[in-house]
Amino acid sequence: TLPKQVKIVEVGPRDGLQNEKQPISVETRIALVDKLSASGLSVIEAGSFVSPKWVPQMAASEEVLAGIQRNEGVIYSALTPNLKGYERAVEAKADEVAVFGAASEAFTQKNINCSIAESLERFRPLVEKAKQDGIPVRGYVSCVLGCPYEGDIDPAKVAEVSAALLEMGCYEISLGDTIGVGTPESAKRMLEQVMARVPVEKLAVHFHDTYGQALANIYAALQMGVAVVDSAVAGLGGCPYARGASGNVASEDVLYMLNGMGIETGVDIQLLAEAGNFISEQLGRETNSRVAKALAPC
Ligand code: HMG
Ligand code: MG
Repeated sequence: TLPKQVKIVEVGPRDGLQNEKQPISVETRIALVDKLSASGLSVIEAGSFVSPKWVPQMAASEEVLAGIQRNEGVIYSALTPNLKGYERAVEAKADEVAVFGAASEAFTQKNINCSIAESLERFRPLVEKAKQDGIPVRGYVSCVLGCPYEGDIDPAKVAEVSAALLEMGCYEISLGDTIGVGTPESAKRMLEQVMARVPVEKLAVHFHDTYGQALANIYAALQMGVAVVDSAVAGLGGCPYARGASGNVASEDVLYMLNGMGIETGVDIQLLAEAGNFISEQLGRETNSRVAKALAPC
């Protein structure tokens, strides 16, 4: 059965911009977050406290978090790969942080320079510290439906890493189809195995739209009871350590589908589309959102 409400986690300012080749000013990043805040979203991933050598676009995430106008009722979150990142995030007053692992050994090496087991050991003290500080931690699992280096991924491995992050204390597990290769049936098979170990209320889905399957995959996940969906306004994005990974599914497109099914989100589609149009103009590109194109005045 379909959920009555869905939480959209807007990852545009982070996943959307982390892989951009052109320089993006802190002012533009701040303006994007502020426009997204105005649309009624409840969670916005505003930045990433990773090594600026690894991901230059996410440098100065502290300046972004310092410059935004915080709306009450909006959670401003950030990625944190290690304790150092966590300390930076706390200093910048992130409301929530996220650790990010993967179900693929090769991807974990390329992305965060360690093995899966080492990554879990690295996250553990971070999650412990966050617990003491009262900061919720989200856990990402990448490559849940395929890996750019290893190809097919065993759903049992996805379930294992998801369960480890949950047991460690992550309050939500976001399942990432990093390179967008999944289809509805493979997504269902993966979710079945994960749901045997992680309650569905704790799960989020995070689809990239490389092969145009994201909305169909999200619909399959909704039918299984998943009620948290990650997306990026204007379909921005891609992962720097996943060749061929295109943007996230567009938030406007997800919202249009949810609206059409009578599922509540609290998000205003017009304001959301305006945020997407703003960043597309800044990047000098057409939006990747079909819905934003359809809504645009001729
Ligand atoms: P490392 O080189 O193994 O780390 O990188 P290290 O601990 O040896 O440190 C090396 C240098 O980095 C040192 O500086 C540290 O101080 C510095 P140096 O002494 O050379 O001057 N450093 C840091 N600086 C700032 N903030 C930090 C930090 N940590 C170390 N937090 C590390 C390991 C994890 C740091 C690195 O691999 C890294 O930053 N990786 C990030 C990769 C990334 O951001 N990928 C994209 C996000 S994941 C994603 O997009 C997928 C997702 O969307 C879901 C999906 O789609 O599947 C979430
Ligand atoms: Mg992603």
